[in-house]
Amino acid sequence: MESFVWEWGSLLLRWLHIVAAMAWIGSSFFFMHLDASLKRTPDIPAGAGAAAWQVHGGGFYEMRKYFVAPEHLSPDLTWHKWQAYTTWLSGFVLLAWIYYAQSQLYLVDPAVMDLSAPAAAALGIGALALGWLVYDRICRSRLGASETGLAAVGLLVITLAAFGFSQVFSGRGALIHTGALMATWMAGNVFFIIIPNQRKVVAALLKGERPDPSLGQQAKQRSAQNNYLTLPVVLMMIANHYPILFASQATIPLIVALVTASGAVIRYFYNVRHADHARSPWWAWAAASAGLAAAFVLAVAGSAGGRSVLGLPPQAEGPPAAALASAGPGGAAPPDHVVELVAGRCAMCHAAEPVWDGIGVAPKGVRLDTAEAIGRQAEAIRRQVVLTHNMPPNNVTEMTDEERGVIAAWLADAAR
Ligand code: HEC
Repeated sequence: MESFVWEWGSLLLRWLHIVAAMAWIGSSFFFMHLDASLKRTPDIPAGAGAAAWQVHGGGFYEMRKYFVAPEHLSPDLTWHKWQAYTTWLSGFVLLAWIYYAQSQLYLVDPAVMDLSAPAAAALGIGALALGWLVYDRICRSRLGASETGLAAVGLLVITLAAFGFSQVFSGRGALIHTGALMATWMAGNVFFIIIPNQRKVVAALLKGERPDPSLGQQAKQRSAQNNYLTLPVVLMMIANHYPILFASQATIPLIVALVTASGAVIRYFYNVRHADHARSPWWAWAAASAGLAAAFVLAVAGSAGGRSVLGLPPQAEGPPAAALASAGPGGAAPPDHVVELVAGRCAMCHAAEPVWDGIGVAPKGVRLDTAEAIGRQAEAIRRQVVLTHNMPPNNVTEMTDEERGVIAAWLADAAR
């Protein structure tokens, strides 16, 4: 029963988290677009504000922005903050639910570092808190004055964080923590900077004073940072479904750097384009494609099977390269010795009635308890066992390299 509760809780939390994140990122995209598309209109004095026209859902909207502040303020002011807070809070609980409460399956890889569950959680939470302090310091320093300078240093910090996480956590644990760190910066920007600054502006206006324009500028700096972080964060959050991204601890930091830079550059394209279509920086797509292509090559080079495809020497561990070279569809039922092997290493979790403590249903619906079922999953097994060593999770059932070699040889035979 307990494992069903874990699954169900994970489902509900993820649902809430995704919906809140869509609302947050949606409003971030909307306001960046709105800011970029503002045009001067004759009825607003130069430098005091600008307006943009929009059509949506059968109506026309004239949106006006007051630079600094309007003469008077409507009492019905909509604050955009709960999307951010809900996203961060649900994300943090989800992180704890999956990665801290079930750390043996997802976060702790004894081959990387044999952490106890409390130590792993403390390390993760401590890194998020420290990461915010470092980031906030950098933004307030002289580096913060230059948008490109800040972007470059931010990218460096993200890469170093990914490196640090990859030294202590499983591959997927490292990627989710890198994403969680960026998401913490974003939520912190809203909670500690953007909203408090806006409150000060509103308070000054209500007192009939002229608000300090630097408050708005600082909020704008953080809001732009958030916008550039959106695409990379979303990729980090879905990365756990793609073992190719974390096949090797060594390639994780560079892959993170390339993906983050590519995502930010794609946002840059849209931010400039929305201001003026004629100035669209098309080079941004070339840069992002090059970055993602390089990340792909690294991901392939980081996985045991990929190295043999690229003609690279095998890594120290891993099955013999010759057995990995083939690629092709499986499908046929495997010979008995393979069925036995899978029964001993995988079927305790991947069965109609799993016997592994904490696993209630076959994970991701993958059953490996009959010869036919194993045959059907041949490609998935290749990805999880041969191309990457994602399964068994953190090698909890202690599968040996010889055994991976046996699986690889069967897949090579089946492809012939
Ligand atoms: C301790 C339990 C456990 C053992 C043992 C185990 N798995 Fe898994 N497996 C899981 C879990 C949990 C997931 C879901 C992972 C996730 O959510 O990303 C999974 C997912 C999978 C998937 C689907 C991956 C995807 O992303 O679609 C395949 C295929 C798989 N395992 C194959 C195997 C093979 C082959 C073995 C034996 C060599 C094995 N597993 C051993 C727990 C286990």
